Amino acid sequence: MPTSDDIFAAPSPEAARTEHAALSARIAEADRLYHQEDAPEISDGEYDALRRRLEDIEAKFPELAGTGEASVSVGAKPSEKFAKVRHAVPMLSLGNAFADAEVEEFVARVRRFLNWPDADPLAFTAEPKIDGLSLALRYENGRLVTAATRGDGETGENVTANAREVGDIPQVLSGTGWPAVCEVRGEVYLSHADFAAINARQEAAGKSLFANPRNAAAGSLRQLDPSITASRPLKFFAYAWGEVSEEIAKTQTGVLERFALWNLPVNPLTVTCPDAAAMIAHYEKIGAERAGLGYDIDGVVYKVDDLALQRRLGFVSRSPRWALAHKFAAQKALTVVEGIEINVGRTGSLNPLAKLRPVTVGGVVVSNATLHNEGYVQGVGGDGEPIRDGRDIRVGDTVVVQRAGDVIPKVMDVVLEQRPANAKPFVFPDHCPACGSRAVREINPRTGKPDAVRRCTGGLICPAQGVERLKHFVSRNGFDLEGFGQTYIEVLFEAGVIKQPADLFRLAFDPLKAAIVARRESLSAERRVEGAPTPKKPTKKKGEDEDKAIKNLVASVEERRSLPLNRFLFALGIPDIGESTAKALAKRFPDMDALMAGVAAAADAQAGPDWIELSSISRIGPTTRDRLLEVGYPRETTDPVEAGEGEELPPQGRIRLSAPQRASLLAHYGDADAVSAGLARASEQRPGDAYRHFADDGEIGPVATDSLIAFFSEPHNDEAVRALLSEVTTEPMAAPATATAFAGKTVVFTGSLEKMTRSEAKATAERLGAKVSGSVSAKTDLVVAGPGAGSKLKDAEKHGVAVVSEEAWLAMVAEA
Ligand code: IVH
Repeated sequence: MPTSDDIFAAPSPEAARTEHAALSARIAEADRLYHQEDAPEISDGEYDALRRRLEDIEAKFPELAGTGEASVSVGAKPSEKFAKVRHAVPMLSLGNAFADAEVEEFVARVRRFLNWPDADPLAFTAEPKIDGLSLALRYENGRLVTAATRGDGETGENVTANAREVGDIPQVLSGTGWPAVCEVRGEVYLSHADFAAINARQEAAGKSLFANPRNAAAGSLRQLDPSITASRPLKFFAYAWGEVSEEIAKTQTGVLERFALWNLPVNPLTVTCPDAAAMIAHYEKIGAERAGLGYDIDGVVYKVDDLALQRRLGFVSRSPRWALAHKFAAQKALTVVEGIEINVGRTGSLNPLAKLRPVTVGGVVVSNATLHNEGYVQGVGGDGEPIRDGRDIRVGDTVVVQRAGDVIPKVMDVVLEQRPANAKPFVFPDHCPACGSRAVREINPRTGKPDAVRRCTGGLICPAQGVERLKHFVSRNGFDLEGFGQTYIEVLFEAGVIKQPADLFRLAFDPLKAAIVARRESLSAERRVEGAPTPKKPTKKKGEDEDKAIKNLVASVEERRSLPLNRFLFALGIPDIGESTAKALAKRFPDMDALMAGVAAAADAQAGPDWIELSSISRIGPTTRDRLLEVGYPRETTDPVEAGEGEELPPQGRIRLSAPQRASLLAHYGDADAVSAGLARASEQRPGDAYRHFADDGEIGPVATDSLIAFFSEPHNDEAVRALLSEVTTEPMAAPATATAFAGKTVVFTGSLEKMTRSEAKATAERLGAKVSGSVSAKTDLVVAGPGAGSKLKDAEKHGVAVVSEEAWLAMVAEA
């Protein structure tokens, strides 16, 4: 199947460089949080996706490899608190796969690389991928001399004293035949039972809990006080080696056998496999046994068994060509709903959140899960259709939680058999828990149905909305004033120092400092009441650091006095104005004044209620509606009535309605006369051009348009934006960072498309910067042909234009 690269030029080197730098920085930050802080903020899945993208770019632009903050480093720089150990052989990482096809491709790639005939056997080992932290143990003459963490792959942390406290790790190797220098590598981990016991102890001592066994293992090993490590029952599996003064064995299996003889723990679930099918079968077997293993694994590692072949295969950037990590997908677990909380979002949405009895799902302890909205809790979808066969979710219920790549896990289902007899349906509040205002599900004028989301009507008086709006305002894709973080915003809002975005730009050192000190004092007062240890008053040094941090905060604001219009717009947090709509608006308006004038004009040109009513009738799409308004209701069936959605319109002042469309109009208005009268009224109330300018724009649309009008028609919003504009200037939007391979190309779709509608195909092409044309000429760059394509295919041939199938097109789009 051709990819976009086969047909179009690759993205520009400039775009690649920009994206590479951004990815690299994100990866470096994720590495730091994971390895140094033991506090990852993104899931493994998200991390892998970032790494893959980086590798893709480096494959196309090899000159970028090794540049940027992350690139080839496989972990974060070692923490300062431990002495450093330079790894004689770097500790690298593994390439990842999720799909079976990728495993087959791995085997094929290895065979191709080695030019290994199909008929000749080639063995692979399949070992569980232990979810802990890797450790290198250096034995000299059979005695443990150093233990080091991976660190950045080149240099790790010296944790020898701690490793000596791990019962599984022999101080002295048993048996005979070990090389004089023998660096054994493997994984330190914690069993589920020991993890639970550690967290119970942490909780009893009022200390913070570990998110998962891996973090607990890392936190336990990387202790300055080895007696803490000793109190945590860490375990170890050996699976690899670094520097060795002589060869241990000829195969991976042989090495593991010798490790076992020397009393090093090796995982019992390791097998050798002749081919991809056997590897995948083992992966599935281990996957099925996973929950009962008693420790976390996050996949299966395949390795070419023959070490001579491993050497031939070597490495590509940071991972061996001879190994692959086949990761497990999203995980589910059963747990109990201990409570249902309502959080108020920035647009006043009442967001239900399940408080769960903590459970490990895919290596992470989950204690919260989103319940989306009122209907989701009740088991009723937006159109009244049942969710989970209509089963509602109650406090006390046993539920299935799932954690996929996303950060917030979901409650997927309820186990009714385990519902306690006294469990009561959850009563969704009809008042805002933050401000007490009424909370309502507004009727959507376009559909006539209540919104899925119940919203607080408190607007500006609702503190929850105010805080959430400010948090959104300072967030990374908004004004990017991350120094304020989520906590500072709460403190400053509560203290009344910041009420609206413009206040951030008028901050002075003193009120900021006063709010922070007041907060600290009230916290310690609270703790005194609870009998918990009180935080110490900051020392002089700490006090100076704090002053410096506050000064930095004040200074950071100055850097944001000018920013691109799209980011400014997104930061305002107007409902329905996400990043892409903000960009679409910024493409069309040079600055906020022009945009606000446009919105005011659109507000004046809004449609009246009769037009909105007509637009909301089912089966009457915009094309049919506009045609009806032009030519009126066709009382006589002048053309043979056809079933289906009669969007195809005959010319010359007539309209052909399908039987269901006709029925829909009659059912709505009553009879033919009423339809005509309704159309006449609607015709008077059509929206004007200033409104359609926004609403008919595919990238903006009527929902966002109405939202903009509603936002700016509130005087306090208008004032808040103007106040902000007196502090901040907007710049025209920066050109899109990644020009796609489709930019400026001309694409023709022909034949019947089966996987997408024609309008979707067109919209996608245009989103990627291509032009869509109806005829094939020498200027055409690509023809996408579905079944039944005819003359255009011939034209393509004539002009030498590339032709692809619908599937190939979708694959290209997915890559772009
Ligand atoms: S082999 C050159 N085998 O997974 C790479 N790694 O994502 C040698 N891991 O850094 C690693 N179980 O911390 C290998 N059976 C296993 C493993 C394993 C867990 C970890 C290890 C590695 C990471 C890569």
